[in-house]
Amino acid sequence: MSNDNLVKNKTNPKCVPTGIPGFDELCGGGLPRNRTYLVSGTSGAGKTIFGLQYIYNGITKYEENGIFIAMEERPEQIRENVKQFRWDLKGLEEEGKLAIVDACSTKIGLPLYEKYIDDRPFDMRSMVDQIMAIQDNIDAKRAVVDGTTSIGFHFQDPSKIRIELLKLSTTLEIIGLTSLMTCEIIDDVMASRFGVEAFVTEGTILMSYKRRDAVRVRSTEILKMRGTNHSQRIHPYEITTKGIVVHPNEEVYSA
Ligand SMILES: Nc1ncnc2c1ncn2[C@@H]1O[C@H](COP(=O)(O)OP(=O)(O)O)[C@@H](O)[C@H]1O
Ligand SMILES: [Mg+2]
Repeated sequence: MSNDNLVKNKTNPKCVPTGIPGFDELCGGGLPRNRTYLVSGTSGAGKTIFGLQYIYNGITKYEENGIFIAMEERPEQIRENVKQFRWDLKGLEEEGKLAIVDACSTKIGLPLYEKYIDDRPFDMRSMVDQIMAIQDNIDAKRAVVDGTTSIGFHFQDPSKIRIELLKLSTTLEIIGLTSLMTCEIIDDVMASRFGVEAFVTEGTILMSYKRRDAVRVRSTEILKMRGTNHSQRIHPYEITTKGIVVHPNEEVYSA
């Protein structure tokens, strides 16, 4: 990779740019560092792509290594799906800049081929231990847990879910990671699935994919982001051949 691609964020070390076109200007240049944020949206909204783009840009533009914990898709599918954006995840893994944890295959009874696996019945302690071990190996600055919905279904009781997610988000913060946790919602009346996820994170980004007349419209909104004077508006975004592009100055089309 040429150094020209690196845009070091020297001016504000407290800020972690996602590098997603149009998004960072909605929150003063990026996410406040060493915090955990929730990315909520219905199925197909683009949460996984958002998370991967954040990690990919971190490595390729900002020299920040990343950890991606795949709870709902196999790493092989993930690597394949993003080839259309020309993101070579395998190459970054081989360079020791990216770790993808397969926290999916064993849960559905598939054999494991990955370097990093979470192969026990779900246990937050072991997941946290594994993240810390990877952190020792690759000195990551960014992490994505995709998604918390599986964790929630495992614990069922909302107070238990809240404690377990708090353990996870706090650990990520303590070991120096700025993280996203994705959350699949059924509709965007409620920004989280179990009603507790937003309490354990410092910010909530809502991604909406709604039908308006004969078309579906994608729009994003920052519902909360502590420590920033973030946009209060709803902004359209697209998924393009280069990934997600947010349009910060356009209104969402409404019929
Ligand atoms: N090249 C592309 N152009 C337009 N839309 C795309 C493209 N690639 C993926 N998508 C959209 O992204 C969606 C999947 O995004 P994903 O991040 O997996 O959603 P989520 O994780 O929120 O369920 C697909 O359903 C499709 O609508
Ligand atoms: Mg997803």
